[in-house]
Amino acid sequence: MAIETTLSIIKPDGVKRNLIGEILKRFEGAGLRVVATKKTALTLQEAEGFYNVHRERPFFASLTQYMTSGPVVVSVLEGENAILKHRELMGATNPAQAAEGTIRKDFALNIEENTVHGSDGSETAKDEIGFFFAGAELIRSRG
Ligand code: CMP
Repeated sequence: MAIETTLSIIKPDGVKRNLIGEILKRFEGAGLRVVATKKTALTLQEAEGFYNVHRERPFFASLTQYMTSGPVVVSVLEGENAILKHRELMGATNPAQAAEGTIRKDFALNIEENTVHGSDGSETAKDEIGFFFAGAELIRSRG
């Protein structure tokens, strides 16, 4: 199976509630490796750029305001089948529909303040990683 990388964001509601360690622990526990991570505060312009595909959605203004309401933790995760594995760990976007044991089922407050974000495919992952990290910042595992 292919070794992939994916972008993970712990959103403002997760950082505010001191869930950084708990969430990263779940990723590591599932065999994903953190190859880069940083805490940052998005500007409105950055949040709008990151979520550009949702620009026409009715929730866009609210989403970008929320994403700038406090710091986030962005990480690059690496592992076998990392994109899908990460999405399975997160659970469905809407916590009301998320499976038992997923991050969103356990922690998300609602469909918007849903604690985590993850890339939804390999092209998106490449773009989203490039949005936050320079290549030299990714410390990939060897072998
Ligand atoms: P995420 O996986 O980061 O991708 C887009 C985000 O928009 C999503 O998680 C939620 O935070 C938010 N979102 C998606 N659908 C809705 C909705 N119907 N109402 C409000 N926010 C939403």
